Amino acid sequence: MKINGKQCRTICPDPSDKSKVHIIDQRQLPHEYTIETLTNLKQTCVAIKDMHVRGAGLIGATAGFGMHLAALQAPETGFMEYMEKAGEQLSSTRPTASNLNWAVRRQLQEVSKSNTLASMQQSVFATACAIADEDAEYCRQIGIHGLEIIRAISKKKKGKPVNILTHCNAGWLAFVDYGSATAPIYAARDAGIAVHVWVDETRPWNQGAKLTAWELQQEKIDNTLIVDNAGGHLMQHGMVDMVIVGTDRTTHTGDVANKIGTYLKALAARDNGIPFYVALPSTTFDWNLDNGMEIPIEQREGEEITTITGKDSDNEIRTVQLTAKDTKAANYSFDITPARLISGLITERGITEADEKAIHRLFPEGGH
Ligand code: MRU
Repeated sequence: MKINGKQCRTICPDPSDKSKVHIIDQRQLPHEYTIETLTNLKQTCVAIKDMHVRGAGLIGATAGFGMHLAALQAPETGFMEYMEKAGEQLSSTRPTASNLNWAVRRQLQEVSKSNTLASMQQSVFATACAIADEDAEYCRQIGIHGLEIIRAISKKKKGKPVNILTHCNAGWLAFVDYGSATAPIYAARDAGIAVHVWVDETRPWNQGAKLTAWELQQEKIDNTLIVDNAGGHLMQHGMVDMVIVGTDRTTHTGDVANKIGTYLKALAARDNGIPFYVALPSTTFDWNLDNGMEIPIEQREGEEITTITGKDSDNEIRTVQLTAKDTKAANYSFDITPARLISGLITERGITEADEKAIHRLFPEGGH
């Protein structure tokens, strides 16, 4: 994706020094574009937990590189034990997104095939790069498949702009490149289809307001920011043609965990006969869970709700108190949208129904 016209990825190893991994500190966006350099496992865990990086695919890619930074410090004797512990530390940073555990497991599996320190370190680095490259490629392919849904709606509307509502940020900042929910939108723009995006602000962290709206602006996609509760109203008035969201974990039966508030959008879409799609790379599937209600839901600090961060008139980024001082707040980060409310899952292999049999037909190697 482009920032100020320049092609960028959300994470990349330093081309001349493998012991450095560069990320964008997303906490400063859209006001400041800050590159942070990670050099060890501890910094990587903090970056994931405190959301310098966030979003399913990017958390996975960061965990991949976190394992690489750990491998550089690991002793030759006891290498695997050291790496398993590093994996546990990474996995414990955020509980909901599948990609985190998936990336750690993939690293441990791959590295177990090597035996000298140099070859093990080389393997972990190569796997981290492969995870990042695949993430970008899968999102690109999601764009190609999702484009066809937008094209069909555009045809029905005789070329009038297709109004797409999205929640949170499942854009390139949540992945390595392209994004999941945004990839079909970029593909539609490239195909000359008129699109307009309704961006949910996504309290409390405001991923929509701060990240998605900015990303779309950078790509010159027409978009309008709305408060989280506006979606139902817009749907009732024929102002939304489809919804596309991302997901942090999807069961192999088609239930979706995504940013808090997604479920309510799906209910409103169903009530108004509006298609509700979820875009995901297959790395987000949890092949072991049958029921979305078993997905662990992250609860974050109440402070994210009782305060708000933005730029003041002195151009300083500041956090201010929004509520009376001792207000109690419960900060549930994700909710579950049941498969029955989902029109389809847009994956790198194509679009499937959110249904166990259909998912396994598309990914026969997947799970049970
Ligand atoms: O808490 P976050 O920002 O890491 O949550 C992830 C998200 O942005 C959303 O839930 C997104 O829609 C799915 S991640 C592709």
